[in-house]
Amino acid sequence: MLTFKTSKEIRAYFKSRSKSIGLVPTMGALHSGHLSLAKKACAENDYVVISVYVNPTQFNHKIDLESYPSNINSDKVLLDPYSDQIIFYTPDHKDLYPGKIQSKSYNFGSITAHMEGLFRPGHFDGVATVVEALFKNIQPKKAYFGEKDFQQLQMIKNLNAQKKMNVTIVSCPIVRENDGLAMSSRNLLLSPEQRKAAPVIYATLQTLNKKNLKSDVSLMNRFFKKQVEQHCLKVEYFFVASINDLIPVSKLELNKKYRFFVAVFAGKTRLIDTIELDRI
Ligand code: PAF
Repeated sequence: MLTFKTSKEIRAYFKSRSKSIGLVPTMGALHSGHLSLAKKACAENDYVVISVYVNPTQFNHKIDLESYPSNINSDKVLLDPYSDQIIFYTPDHKDLYPGKIQSKSYNFGSITAHMEGLFRPGHFDGVATVVEALFKNIQPKKAYFGEKDFQQLQMIKNLNAQKKMNVTIVSCPIVRENDGLAMSSRNLLLSPEQRKAAPVIYATLQTLNKKNLKSDVSLMNRFFKKQVEQHCLKVEYFFVASINDLIPVSKLELNKKYRFFVAVFAGKTRLIDTIELDRI
């Protein structure tokens, strides 16, 4: 597997090769969710750049940034089956932030106004800044993102259109553990007790999707909180938002598409999940 630390080296490598490049941006501590992106990207492109960069500007709290898990060696081992196609890119700050390490300011309208945008001020500006830099530096044909960060995915589609970057954004379904917990690098930070409790998040979303409380969001919210907080977990938010504009609703309308969006704390570790609701 080729490893580069700068986008300059990547560009030099591709200069004389007319090959299609896929990009899988990550913050490392790779798991099967990332691998599903890598696998799809390898099937659809000649080469795939996997970037591993823990982007400081998208973290709201220093402690969250400092405790973010990282293990470059085991990341490489996981990617080994695809080593012929993969370029492992581990930039330092200078490669992505030529000046100060600070976010640019963007306007994504309602897409980033609620849920993560509301509870993590500045988060999406940080993500957009680094994704824009990655797209400009690597110039991929396609880039791959997981639906667990559904709001991020919609924001990146919007960013790509606003900046006319012409990258095909490929969305990939959430990969879950056998017990339903959405895969996340942050799961590594859970204590055994928290890890045991965490599957209740997805289980409750599934129950709610079947229950006939479905049209009343405040009832659903109460049910979610009651089920989840029986365990050592604390709900930060529960929203039902329309898929198109990501604006939360209080009542569901017939034949419209909605998603649940939730954030839950297990101690200091923050877990998010989302599923699409069956239509009412
Ligand atoms: O989803 C992530 O891991 C990050 O937000 C991303 C897209 C790699 C940007 O830092």
